[in-house]
Amino acid sequence: MSVVSFRDLVLEKIKCVLPRVVELCYGSGCTNYYLGNGKDGWVFRMFNPDDVFDRSLDRYAVKIWNKSFRYRVREIEIHRHVADSASSRFSVPSIVHVDHDLGCFVMDRVFGETAFRTFVRRKLRMNVSMHNDVMSAFAELNKCGVHHNDPHLGNFMFTDLVFVSAGSDVIEDAVIWIIDFGRSNLIAFSDDRPDLLRYLREDQYVATAP
Ligand SMILES: Nc1ncnc2c1ncn2[C@@H]1O[C@H](COP(=O)(O)OP(=O)(O)OP(=O)(O)O)[C@@H](O)[C@H]1O
Ligand SMILES: [Mg+2]
Repeated sequence: MSVVSFRDLVLEKIKCVLPRVVELCYGSGCTNYYLGNGKDGWVFRMFNPDDVFDRSLDRYAVKIWNKSFRYRVREIEIHRHVADSASSRFSVPSIVHVDHDLGCFVMDRVFGETAFRTFVRRKLRMNVSMHNDVMSAFAELNKCGVHHNDPHLGNFMFTDLVFVSAGSDVIEDAVIWIIDFGRSNLIAFSDDRPDLLRYLREDQYVATAP
């Protein structure tokens, strides 16, 4: 008797609904599922177009490349390479399915927020240890032989934010997710840590824990 895991069944469902999900996302009916977009594509949370109450696809996101985006194979290759290079300094959403005919791939959804939302929209602050953690995350990515090449605030995300104390707006820790390898290169040595301070007001950086 063959054993089929829940994940296998969900993957079958993803493959089955994906053509219609992509078609709907190209139309105007998917604002409810929108997660973000950028220079090279649009990202939506996965859903079942036949059953709005089906929650089994909630934990996945689909990135639909812009028609003009040429580096699809390289993006997948590097994203998979990073996902396979386990690091305790940062996380990467696993890729669960790629469909080059449809021009998209499905990955784990990050249930968090971009650094852009954290620091620019919400104007939260961070202390020096959080700043160091972001720098170390990208340094570790470089050690995997990957030059991210586009390390802006929309290309890393946070979950599990920890504040220095209850009620404080100063972040001291978070799980750091690096995303979007669409412009990345495999390079033996590189250093492309984000210039985080460039995006912050001076009072958003706290040199020591208050
Ligand atoms: N796995 C994910 N889970 C949740 N949201 C995501 C995920 N991947 C991407 N996003 C959201 O979608 C946005 C766009 O994704 P992505 O950065 O991959 O697109 P892009 O077009 O390549 O961007 P860029 O302008 O940086 O080239 C992200 O900034 C983020 O808000
Ligand atoms: Mg991006």
